[in-house]
Amino acid sequence: MALGVKAVAFSYVTHVLGIAGAVLVLVWCVHFRGGLAWEASNKSLIFNIHPVLMLIGLIIIGGEAIISYKTLSLRKEVKKLIHLVLHAVALILGIIGIYTAFKYHNESNIVNLYSLHSWLGIGIIILYGIQWIYGFLIFFYPGGTTTIRSESLPWHVVFGLFVYLLAVGNAALGYLEKLTFLENSGLAKYGSEAFLVNFTAIVTVLFGTFVVLTVISQGPAENDYSYSAI
Ligand code: HEM
Repeated sequence: MALGVKAVAFSYVTHVLGIAGAVLVLVWCVHFRGGLAWEASNKSLIFNIHPVLMLIGLIIIGGEAIISYKTLSLRKEVKKLIHLVLHAVALILGIIGIYTAFKYHNESNIVNLYSLHSWLGIGIIILYGIQWIYGFLIFFYPGGTTTIRSESLPWHVVFGLFVYLLAVGNAALGYLEKLTFLENSGLAKYGSEAFLVNFTAIVTVLFGTFVVLTVISQGPAENDYSYSAI
């Protein structure tokens, strides 16, 4: 099943939303929240790395990895390589991003893993890692038999989209949680920063939506450049 629209058409909107989301999260964390730092006496600067890496890494680069298969007119082997490398970058940035949230908590004497956001976050990063390792072993190296590959492919697609959408939803929870903390500490509920955070969340959700729309629309014609990912 595919929507009667070319995937590339949706992918342009996806790229624009990705750039907009990256700019918005950087404006928030650098301009409004004081910047990013790995070591600092102001521990909030360590936290700021978390939303930046989770959005630009796991969500945006991860989304580009997903749609690359459907939009690039390259040889199958090249697309496979681009897909797995972009997902590896997304996963590594996601792991570093989660580490910074723990680092911020530990250095600020705040307990870890107390929220729904953090529980879902741990589940998501573990499932993303499992999905990447399974995909690597079955579709890339050493590679499964033709039967295992063709039977795994629909599960790889469905499970991959499921984990990705969970990540997009969890990022929305993360913005909500952080904004609620800030508003409880005095940030104006209708102020410019509150609007900026909510708009960043909306752009994140729209980006995820367009990743899915791109994936379920028409890829390149069935030839050497086809979408038959195995
Ligand atoms: C899919 C993307 C994301 C994942 C997988 C994720 C995962 C996590 C995890 C595992 C923690 C727990 C750290 C600990 O307990 O020490 C955490 C903390 C936190 N994250 Fe995220 N995060 C994501 C995106 C975001 C975004 C975009 C924001 C926006 C600001 C955010 C805000 C927070 C906040 C405020 C905390 C500290 C409070 C808490 O532990 O719930 N997260 N995140």
